[in-house]
Amino acid sequence: MTARHLLTFASSLVALILSSSLAAQAHDASVANHQPHYYDSADFGIDPKSVTFSDHIAPILQSSCQNCHRPGGGGPMVLMTYDEVRPWAPVIKYRTAIRDRMGAMPPYFLEKHIGITRMKDDYSLSDKELAMIQAWADNGAPRGNPENEPPLLEFDSGNEWAIGEPDLILRSNDFSRPAAGPDWWGDLGLVPTGLTEDRYVSAIQVREINDIPADGVTGTVGGRYIVHHMTYTSGSLNEDGSEVVDNVVSWPIHEVGRNADIFPEKAGRLLPANSALHLEATHMHSNGRETSAYVEFGIKFFPVGYKPQYSRRGPRTGNGIDIDVVPNEANQEFHNYVVLQEHTKIIAFEPHLHAPGVRMCMEAIWGHNQFTLNCVGYDHNWVKQYVYEDDAAPLLPKGTILHTIGFLDTTRANPNLADARNWAGGGRRSVSNMFIDLGYSVSLTEEQFQEEMATRRANMKDRNDYDVGCPMCWAPESMESSLAQGND
Ligand code: HEC
Repeated sequence: MTARHLLTFASSLVALILSSSLAAQAHDASVANHQPHYYDSADFGIDPKSVTFSDHIAPILQSSCQNCHRPGGGGPMVLMTYDEVRPWAPVIKYRTAIRDRMGAMPPYFLEKHIGITRMKDDYSLSDKELAMIQAWADNGAPRGNPENEPPLLEFDSGNEWAIGEPDLILRSNDFSRPAAGPDWWGDLGLVPTGLTEDRYVSAIQVREINDIPADGVTGTVGGRYIVHHMTYTSGSLNEDGSEVVDNVVSWPIHEVGRNADIFPEKAGRLLPANSALHLEATHMHSNGRETSAYVEFGIKFFPVGYKPQYSRRGPRTGNGIDIDVVPNEANQEFHNYVVLQEHTKIIAFEPHLHAPGVRMCMEAIWGHNQFTLNCVGYDHNWVKQYVYEDDAAPLLPKGTILHTIGFLDTTRANPNLADARNWAGGGRRSVSNMFIDLGYSVSLTEEQFQEEMATRRANMKDRNDYDVGCPMCWAPESMESSLAQGND
């Protein structure tokens, strides 16, 4: 090799290294450049001709789709029998391949190649399942041997509680919307709990009960309900029961399509004696037919005498006010930094953007280390909460900088956007913007933090095993003890 050759070789190597590292960091979050994930079935050892509805596809639909795509479910069509599924095969192939981007089915947008991947109730599809669906659809969606089909799942009325039979069911007043009319936003008043002693809540689920026939064709979830979302608190009542005055607790927001909330065993929430829920702010909309409804709260309690170990909430992240969204531009980024004042365990990540939102990431900056905890796609048609498995949840020392990054796209390629031409600021409506994490975290004492870390360390195989959410798990003992003494 001559010197000149060597130089060219060296500079092309530099170019190669540069471009690959750039590609790894710069993420194109624009809707126009979203690429479906199509796989070569050979990479998974799948013979494409052998994939059938009966043997392979029906079980996938049962575990990840029929919860919604069943009679009376939230999905617009039923995907249970072969005849129901067959016409949708090409669309199913496409929608599932969108994977973690706006429009993906099932609607679960966790990016699985980065950060923490062990979440509760993750019903998303694996690469192999995607490859299987694609091979099947490309091969003409054959049925196979009907005798091999799993028995059809039986769903009851659709009114069963996801949290199991509640210990207490509370009910709001009745309300209604005309077939057509402006949206309504306001206070629906108090719902007394009737409790005579303090109880801690282990799970809560909110659902709308209305007079829309369950088997009627509504086209979409927007036609099945009139409550779009509701924020509510609880607390002890004053003497004449007219106002919540003490022990005020705010509960996770209720939104159409949002899951029930199951609180960690160490962090139950108080519902005191002589208390009430206060349905502070509800957004209702007309759905094309006059509808009467009420909201039901299913509540499960921890046993009498239970006391939570973790009672202090972690900080809120994001920014709902100083927002500057320019028109017609993809890959806009918002950044927010919070310095953790206490050791913190993050229980759930719930990105909340509005119509322009396409993605949100959360990272932890500790010393000179920067950990991507998670990135998730965002689709404003869905409000998704990602709940960490208890032994995978971020466990961050005080002093960590929690950095959230929102990605927005205000071009016409974003189908959720009403108008690509206008500047928009912050605000409550979907046409204005928010950038917050509605997730939930708890503050830990030094002792609790060390205890949690000890459990995590015991799960790690060796010094080369890495726990993304726990930057201090392998910290030298001396650092730990100096932290414990509070003289770091
Ligand atoms: C949490 C409820 C839910 C789950 C789970 C779910 N879907 Fe859907 N699906 C919907 C809703 C609601 C829509 C209509 C809104 C939309 O298109 O995004 C929809 C739309 C679709 C569409 C597009 C229909 C059209 O008119 O073009 C397809 C295809 C689809 N789903 C397939 C699936 C498959 C396959 C799965 C499982 C792998 C699945 N869905 C899981 C609720 C769900």
